[in-house]
Amino acid sequence: MNKPLSEQTALITGGATGIGRAFAEALLESGIGAVVIASRRRDVLENAAGELNAAHGPRVHPFAFDIRDRQQTEALVADTIHKFGSVDVLINNSGLAVPETVTGITDTGWDEVLETNLRGAVWLTQLVLPKMFEQNFGDIVNVSSQAGKHGYADVPSYCVSKFGLLGFAESLRDDVRKRSANVRVFNFCPGLVDVETPPDHPPRPGFIHVRNMGRTLIYALSLDRDVILEDINIYSR
Ligand SMILES: NC(=O)c1ccc[n+]([C@@H]2O[C@H](COP(=O)([O-])OP(=O)(O)OC[C@H]3O[C@@H](n4cnc5c(N)ncnc54)[C@H](OP(=O)(O)O)[C@@H]3O)[C@@H](O)[C@H]2O)c1
Repeated sequence: MNKPLSEQTALITGGATGIGRAFAEALLESGIGAVVIASRRRDVLENAAGELNAAHGPRVHPFAFDIRDRQQTEALVADTIHKFGSVDVLINNSGLAVPETVTGITDTGWDEVLETNLRGAVWLTQLVLPKMFEQNFGDIVNVSSQAGKHGYADVPSYCVSKFGLLGFAESLRDDVRKRSANVRVFNFCPGLVDVETPPDHPPRPGFIHVRNMGRTLIYALSLDRDVILEDINIYSR
């Protein structure tokens, strides 16, 4: 079962900035029907939606929410399904790091990182899956990191969250396989991504340009529905 991209709705957390915004742009350029961008700062969301809609037509819808708040997260998914009928592509992209070393991890820092990067992605996945199963169609894209593959002394809680996201994604892939559901799971594990360089400038040394994230997303989504593409390790040479 397939669904034309023009009839699909993507929900991108953190979609107003950086990698999330590059994903939104790539999906719009490829002809997606609607994109919901969701994060905390309403002004940043509205500015981004205004710019994207001016460039690509009115298909971008901002929704302010805090992924650490269960009710706000439920409201985001309910509102999206109410307006567009489904979430066809969920992109779990919101994330942050709190630089605390192994001996310096605080409960506050730990909770902020784990609740944003991992628990929020789990909640959203739980909330969108029933509709994906009902329509037997959906893609879930997780933005992990090379810090989900390797441990780094300066951001251990971030590494735990990104390793954890990959573990959850693997369990999710096994769950949908057992159900024979037409739901694919993709994981990005980027190294350093330059989210500030303008489109026509080279990225900083050691970084990849953010446009490569968008290109790779479109490539991954274009694969046949029965193809499993495991973790996408993408970084600068
Ligand atoms: N750039 C890199 O080098 C790199 C490398 C590997 C992985 N990543 C991952 O890529 C993802 C995107 O990062 P980025 O580099 O594009 O940085 P970014 O622009 O800072 O994106 C992070 C997004 O998360 C949102 N966010 C943070 N806390 C949130 C909350 N409580 N509720 C809802 N949304 C929240 C932020 O929006 P608000 O502040 O408005 O909420 C922001 O839009 C992250 O998961 C990051 O870990 C980045």
